Amino acid sequence: MRESFMNILGIETSCDETGVAWVQAAPGGVPRLVAQALHSQVDLHESYGGVVPELASRDHIRRVLPLAQQVLRNGGGSWGDIDLIAYTAGPGLAGALLVGAGVAAGLAAGLGRPAAPVHHLEGHLLSPFLGDESPTFPFVALLVSGGHTQLLDVEGVGRYRLLGESVDDAAGEAFDKAAKLLGLGYPGGPALSSLAQAGDAARYALPRPLLHSGDLDFSFSGLKTAVLTQVRRLGAQATAQDRADLAAATQAAIVDVLVAKAAAALASTGRRELVVAGGVGANRLLRDRLVQAGARRGAQVRFPPAALCTDNGAMIALAAAMRWQRGLLANDSTGSFSVRPRWPLEEASAALP
Ligand code: KG4
Ligand code: ZN
Repeated sequence: MRESFMNILGIETSCDETGVAWVQAAPGGVPRLVAQALHSQVDLHESYGGVVPELASRDHIRRVLPLAQQVLRNGGGSWGDIDLIAYTAGPGLAGALLVGAGVAAGLAAGLGRPAAPVHHLEGHLLSPFLGDESPTFPFVALLVSGGHTQLLDVEGVGRYRLLGESVDDAAGEAFDKAAKLLGLGYPGGPALSSLAQAGDAARYALPRPLLHSGDLDFSFSGLKTAVLTQVRRLGAQATAQDRADLAAATQAAIVDVLVAKAAAALASTGRRELVVAGGVGANRLLRDRLVQAGARRGAQVRFPPAALCTDNGAMIALAAAMRWQRGLLANDSTGSFSVRPRWPLEEASAALP
């Protein structure tokens, strides 16, 4: 019976998390997560206030194989069970991507199995399929990560149409930069949103860039400037309450724009389902407000399981599994590999590089 299943090991090393996971897929149905392991580099980069690419690459090298062994152990299997090695080929940090791609190619050659490149954002946008209730195609996807803010019309696996995106900073970047201005640690999103809990969002009027632009694009760099202006105005006298209020106002401004544009994307496409993915999708206020906005227009809103919002290996193995089920997988059986640090998702639509 085992022959009818595909056992995929997914490797994610595009930024500051080393993720490895084992996903099992039958020819039909939703693939199943067998086991996963993750190592976050937050402690490594914290004192620098952001990701240091060279340190990231070196740490991925150290972590990836022990994590893979842990995954096999936790899944009750061994290398012989793995049929395919999937790895993030982009977008991301070039050196970090090369670690995952090189390890995947080496493992594939050693095992006599193929390796397959995966688009990081495709992993994010399919990750809600690992939740309790799977989305149904077609749907609108709101991808909100540290590097990307995009709205996509998703007709099926590999069928993605970009509806709008950030013209400057990503939503996660806006959280991170505002958090830095408020003296919070890296990554800023979770820190800013927890400080915001004690704050009054109405106290500071911050801009909602492009809210009424009539299209589905975003812009967040002006918001950072507005936060900087307030921080300077408060100066050294800023109280804990001032900082909490400013954090709450920042979060509200980002969330207002994301919610309004996601609702407009549902309206313009006529889709009845919204899938939210990427690190900022872990934000509680954003989740609550999107669910309310969806309910108002009779649309389902789906999220990945909370632990799979940020980067992980499970979403990479899952994307490869869903492509395999549809005959859309690009296999690297030549032993060579390449990465694409910049790689628009639409270019991954039909086939991978
Ligand atoms: O998807 P992700 O893990 O990595 C990228 O592919 O970029 O997203 C990371 C981003 C960071 O900017 C982080 O601050 C943000 O997601 N983030 C959050 C929350 N958790 C993570 N932003 C707001 N609220 C959160 N709870
Ligand atoms: Zn990501």
